[in-house]
Order: sequence, then C-alpha cells, then structure tokens
Amino acid sequence: MSGPNTDYDPVEVTPLKPEEVESARDAALAAIAAASDLAELKQVRIDHTGDRSPLALANREIGALPPQARKEAGQRIGQARGAVAKALGERQAVLEVEHEERILVEETVDVTLPTDRARPGGRHPITLQSELIADIFVAMGWEIAEGPVVEAEWLNFDALNLGPDHPARTLQDTFWTEPVDHHVVLRTQTSPVQARTMLTRTPPIYVACPGRVFRTDEYDATHSPMFHQVEGLVVDEGITMAHLKGSLDHLAGQLFGAGIDTRFRPSYFPFTEPSAEVDVRCFVCRGVDSAECRTCRGEGWIEWGGCGVVNPRVLTACGVDSERYTGFAFGMGIDRSFMFRHDLEDLRPLFEGDVRFSAAFGTEI
Ligand code: DAH
Repeated sequence: MSGPNTDYDPVEVTPLKPEEVESARDAALAAIAAASDLAELKQVRIDHTGDRSPLALANREIGALPPQARKEAGQRIGQARGAVAKALGERQAVLEVEHEERILVEETVDVTLPTDRARPGGRHPITLQSELIADIFVAMGWEIAEGPVVEAEWLNFDALNLGPDHPARTLQDTFWTEPVDHHVVLRTQTSPVQARTMLTRTPPIYVACPGRVFRTDEYDATHSPMFHQVEGLVVDEGITMAHLKGSLDHLAGQLFGAGIDTRFRPSYFPFTEPSAEVDVRCFVCRGVDSAECRTCRGEGWIEWGGCGVVNPRVLTACGVDSERYTGFAFGMGIDRSFMFRHDLEDLRPLFEGDVRFSAAFGTEI
C-alpha cells in the first residue's frame, strides 16, 4: 500500500505559484480598469474569470493538492478571485451609469428641428359641419338622403314646380352639361333630393340631405360656383308650418347654442306654399342691444335659408297623394352657416385646401 504523496510539492505546479496568482490577479485588475465600455468589460470577464483563465485553472488545481497545502493555496487563490470579482462588479456599475448617460445624450431628440415628415392632413371643416348637421337630424329620428350632383333637369327644376318658362329658373344660374339637349345639369340646389325621395319612398318621410351644389357665380368673398346646402323634407299626415318652425328652432339651438331660435319672413319659392325666408337669432348678441353687433350687423337676426309647406303640385308630380299628405321643406347654406358661426368674412379659404385653415378649426388628424 502506498501512503499519501508527501513528496508532492505544490510550488512546482505553475498555476499555483504565489507570484503567478498575483500576476494573474494584477493582470485582471489592470484589464478591468482599462475596459472602457460594457462590451470590453464582458471580454475581460471571459479572459480573466472564464473556465480557461489562469485563476480558474489555479482554482481547479487546488483539489489535487495534498490536504495540508490546500488551505493556504485556497486562501491565496480565493482572495485573488474575490478581488477580481469585486473589481469587475464595481467597474460594471460605473460603466452602466456611463452607458445610460451616454444614451441620454446621444439619443436626445431636438423637437425644435424642422421636419421633412408630410403633414397628416385634416378633415375639412365643411365635412365636419355637414356631419354635425346630419347627426342632429339623425338624433331626431330622421334619415340622411343623398342624390347625384349631376342631375336631370326635370328633377332639379320641373318636378319642383319650376317649369321651363318659370321666371325663378333664371335666379339659379345653371351649369348645363353638353350636349344641352340631354337636359342634364349640375344641380343648383339640394331640392331635387326631395323629388328623388318622394319618387322612391312612401310617406311618412323624414329626410335631411347635406350636399354640394353648383351655380355659375363669380368666385369672390361671398360667392363660389360650388357650395354646400342642407335640405330637409318631411311628408306625413297632418304636417303643418308649426312642425317646420319647431324643427328649425331645434336645429338652430343645437347648432348655435341653447335658446337660439328662428323667425320667418314671407317669401316665395315655387316648391313651397306658403314660403318663408328663415332667419336665425344672432347667437352673439341674441337680439338684445344689437346695434354694435358685428355678427348680425345690428339686425339681431341672420339670414339662414328658405322653407315652406310643400306645394301640393310638387307632391303630385312626385307621386304623393296630396289630399292625404302634407309636408314641409327647407334648405340652407352650410358654408354660410359655417362663416357666420366662425366670424369669417371671406368664404374662399373654405375651398382652397390649405391644411393650416383646417387645422385652425381643430380638424387636424
Ligand atoms: N332650394 C332653395 C335655394 O337653393 C332653398 C330652399 C328654399 C329649399 C325653400 C327648400 C325650401 O326646400 O322649401 O335657394
């Protein structure tokens, strides 16, 4: 039997020599101190504490030592490894802080720099205004109707009691499409949607129709060859002018503020009898001490549109039994409503497509 190997001299095992351990430790500490960022420190960690590093190799050798030599070697190597681990931890913490600070500086966004990003655009104020008006009618249980902007002359005029020789035809300067004998126009009003609705539906009818209309007007601060109207039509049993007044008062209150109502002035439209011009109470001065009011120019009222009880001739032309049913209708300019609502003197910005104008009315998306 052989006894313990007393001849074994740990000093002879190279990795365990105290000066080797010291120099491995010092090399590790120097590399840690020199690591200038987290990636470099990671490499240092692998080189000096990884499986093949001098200190790891030395640590592995301890087990092979005779018991009496293990303690001293274990302490020496343990201290060296401890010093390296501590230095690594400290350097890691310092480099992490530096890294975060650098990111904060390098990734700072200068929000004041000019951008080349395209603006997202905006919903057009008139689109929003039309939808708001439509919503008010929908909330009353009405339906929204639509019709084409390129319209048959008969629907735009004749069905509405504006026969070929009717003097009121000339009041609406009309765009005719070629060839003229096809009798097709750009609709001059949203009223043909009334005729279309009555021809395709049976009463009770409660419809509103916002849409584009066209007239051969010069383009200036208060005229445009294309503008927007909203039309209303009700046909039911027992409908009177009082229902018309109540509906318009409600619309005015919703659009311009609670308590804003309307007044009627006698007028003439071929499609209604009796007919009225409708004015809306000035929502700025409310008709009290109006003299100085810019919005209504001292009137207390603002012209809004036309209305009346549907002429029985129109009901008949559109296939509705005028003995049984009566109705009311109205039409007003959406652009005009928008202009006086927002104190605009010139309607041209509404049609020139500058997104800054849309954004000013809170419609940028
Ligand atoms: N269509 C008319 C216009 O463009 C406005 C109008 C007046 C519409 C009276 C109506 C109405 O429905 O009853 O001037």
